[in-house]
Amino acid sequence: MNVPFLDLKMQYQSISEEIDIVLRQVLNATAFSGGPFVERFEEQFATFSQCKHAIGVGSGTEALWLSLLALGVGTGDEVITVPNTFIATVEAISLCGATPVFVDVDDKCYTMDPALLEAAITPRTKAIIPVHLYGQVCNMDPIMKIARKHGLLVVEDACQAHGAEYKGRRAGSIGNAGCFSFYPGKNLGAYGEAGGVTTNDHHLAAKIKMLRDHGQSKKYAHDMIGVNSRMDGLQGAVLGVKLKYLASWNYARIRNADLYRERLGGVEGVVLPEKMPYAHHIYHIFAIGVQDRDLLMKALAEKEIGCGVHYPVPVHLQDAYSFMGHKKGSFPVAEKCAEETLSLPMFAELTEEQIEHTADVIKKHFRHPLSSAA
Ligand SMILES: Cc1ncc(COP(=O)(O)O)c(C=O)c1O
Repeated sequence: MNVPFLDLKMQYQSISEEIDIVLRQVLNATAFSGGPFVERFEEQFATFSQCKHAIGVGSGTEALWLSLLALGVGTGDEVITVPNTFIATVEAISLCGATPVFVDVDDKCYTMDPALLEAAITPRTKAIIPVHLYGQVCNMDPIMKIARKHGLLVVEDACQAHGAEYKGRRAGSIGNAGCFSFYPGKNLGAYGEAGGVTTNDHHLAAKIKMLRDHGQSKKYAHDMIGVNSRMDGLQGAVLGVKLKYLASWNYARIRNADLYRERLGGVEGVVLPEKMPYAHHIYHIFAIGVQDRDLLMKALAEKEIGCGVHYPVPVHLQDAYSFMGHKKGSFPVAEKCAEETLSLPMFAELTEEQIEHTADVIKKHFRHPLSSAA
């Protein structure tokens, strides 16, 4: 039985009639860059995210970058984040001319360890970027408490956390800004590149709107230096349709995660992802912990089961950040996460049979690790 890691075609087929209609509407309205379809989506996504504003931009990377710029982060500032994230989190800091500072993650949930945060703060620290990895929100109360105590800004990297919650509060509504990626494979994915920022701060929203559009306050009046990061109309229309289904797709992912837990619970050699009591986890990724990951990956590939690693090299050990001088051992929990986590197939349409089959192959592998790898 073939089990893909992700099946975007199945999702499209389930909503194709609606999608085809709105795409035609955008074409007929020639509303290609920004425009009414993007504006409608922004309103809906703001409401969904329990925020006053949502601003559509070109990607999650740009959402982070423009949020930091709009908050005044620049040369000489330090921004604290974690090394086990997609590199974009850290690139956004560098693109502002600021310096990234890493803290390690908690060994249960692999998100920012608030206990390590205060030691990383210096007089140059301006902001913190907690990353809601895999669809589980960081432990935000202690992070926000420390931020308030030291007068720091908080930009949530919610690129993997559409609809995730912390004690009933939606990801992206807790810090000064929340940044989302609508990359096609996300829980809410466009049919191309797109991103968004959520905030309750009216001035910040207005500034990000200007920055995404060459710093314009009105046509050809450029009050500041900006970029072109307007969301395109086709993406706004697609996201508007898909947003209606996001909650039910997230619940299907939660059901799938529960099935994995049922089937893999107690299997020696498999560490299941921790569900934190404060979190409504929406399982962008269902990552188990295993040793000898390559052997298991080989066994799964032989049975045509897709899997992934998020992420194999933590950012502090990437060549691009070698200038920071970190070495193996600098952030042991993030490194363990990079070495041992394996992301199993996870999407709303995944069937019980596919999950059962995947779990059976894993169980068999751990019973006979060498024979299944041979
Ligand atoms: C945690 C995290 N941050 C930032 C990004 C960047 O988003 P994008 O690819 O839309 O630029 C991603 C996307 O993969 C991500 O997962």
